[in-house]
Amino acid sequence: MSHDQKSIHLRDMHGLTVRGPVEWTEEEKAEIAAIVAKYPTQRSAIMPVLWKAQRKWGWLQFDVLKLVAATLSLKPSEVLEVATFYTMFKKEPTGRYLIQACHTLSCALLGADRIIRHIEQKLQLDEHGNSPDGKFTLMRVECLAACGSGPMMQINDDFYELLTEQKVDEILDAMAADRPLPVPRPEVDQWTYTPVS
Ligand code: FES
Repeated sequence: MSHDQKSIHLRDMHGLTVRGPVEWTEEEKAEIAAIVAKYPTQRSAIMPVLWKAQRKWGWLQFDVLKLVAATLSLKPSEVLEVATFYTMFKKEPTGRYLIQACHTLSCALLGADRIIRHIEQKLQLDEHGNSPDGKFTLMRVECLAACGSGPMMQINDDFYELLTEQKVDEILDAMAADRPLPVPRPEVDQWTYTPVS
């Protein structure tokens, strides 16, 4: 399967395809107006409006970027350069579960490569980091600011820290079975770096 076919497959699997007119609802327009009103210029609202678009459509297809640009009276290129700078903005569809595994120094010294290889093998990920069923996508990312409790990964919006192969298995098995995930919580106190009991 080519990369393009895989992308379409992922979109179809998870309803991420942007079909029909790409436009805001009246309610969303009012919400965006309230966001823009917080900033001195419309341009300053690029990131929160991009984030809102990503929440709605799952990823930032070019038509969505053009809508954000039109919404803020900017050129598409101005919005594109922001979207491409930050890895939190998705330029292609991902699985329902986006696993961002930190591989920067602290986590690397604590075994990040071993954990990442375990995830790759367990989920049988392809060269783009996607599982065969399109449910999971793995990305290696730089420091996510949980350096004292590595190895760590972020799954969608939540952090999972002090990872072991066993802990990863529990989390991924719950996801694969669509069971509730273990409740993520800080493993280490952010000021004292002592375990949270
Ligand atoms: S080095 Fe991994 S979270 Fe900072």
